[in-house]
Amino acid sequence: MTLSEVTISELRELASRYPEARSALLPMLHLVQSTEGNVTNQGIELCAEILGISAAEVSGVSTFYTMYKRRPMGKHHVGVCTNTLCAVMGGDAIFERLKDHLDVGNDETTDDGKVTLEHIECNAACDFAPVMMVNWEFFDNQTPESAIEVVDKLRAGKKVQATRGATITSWRAAERVLAGFEDGLVDQGPAAAGPSLAGLEIAAEKGWSAPSANEAKAKPNEVPDDKVGAVEQADTSRAESETKDEEGKK
Ligand code: FES
Repeated sequence: MTLSEVTISELRELASRYPEARSALLPMLHLVQSTEGNVTNQGIELCAEILGISAAEVSGVSTFYTMYKRRPMGKHHVGVCTNTLCAVMGGDAIFERLKDHLDVGNDETTDDGKVTLEHIECNAACDFAPVMMVNWEFFDNQTPESAIEVVDKLRAGKKVQATRGATITSWRAAERVLAGFEDGLVDQGPAAAGPSLAGLEIAAEKGWSAPSANEAKAKPNEVPDDKVGAVEQADTSRAESETKDEEGKK
């Protein structure tokens, strides 16, 4: 496939958004993926030419970050977090069931071209473990059964809504958003919920707030008067008993 004139001009536009053009490389590679389905050799050469860097440098970046794909992707990317917390909470089981159900291995695409399955690292959503991502939208607190339901709907072309985030479109459409071209869905669905807000709710209940920037700067190591209660009320007993247990074992 050859990159279209429209894409080439959008790549140039991305390069012009930054004081240092080479800062645009990451979004440019996302844009290449959005039109080509992966980072192609032509895409690498074009990015290098526009940014005035070598193709080897672009290639080095595109092979370093796992979000850049050198092989064509399916319509949807399904990433199952199998990092420590998600793994023990069921991520490993979800990944195994999906491999069986879709009849693919890691980083492989179903025969119908609809789903590419990949095990992924921590997505900073551990409070909702185990987590699955579809085109980088969150699916929280998954089970093998709920994950299968999601991929079946995706393959059947049915509407799928992320638990935190927008309605699922396609991996290529999501790549265009990552390149910096809005699709108007940014405000769809809750961005934060449940466990992520627990600390905020406790702080509101107890009247705690963060120190102002000036306060923090003036006394970096001091607990402001109105936060003394917060320290006293914080329940650290479990952490302390664990520390003692550890010390007892030495
Ligand atoms: S370990 Fe899965 S999101 Fe952090």
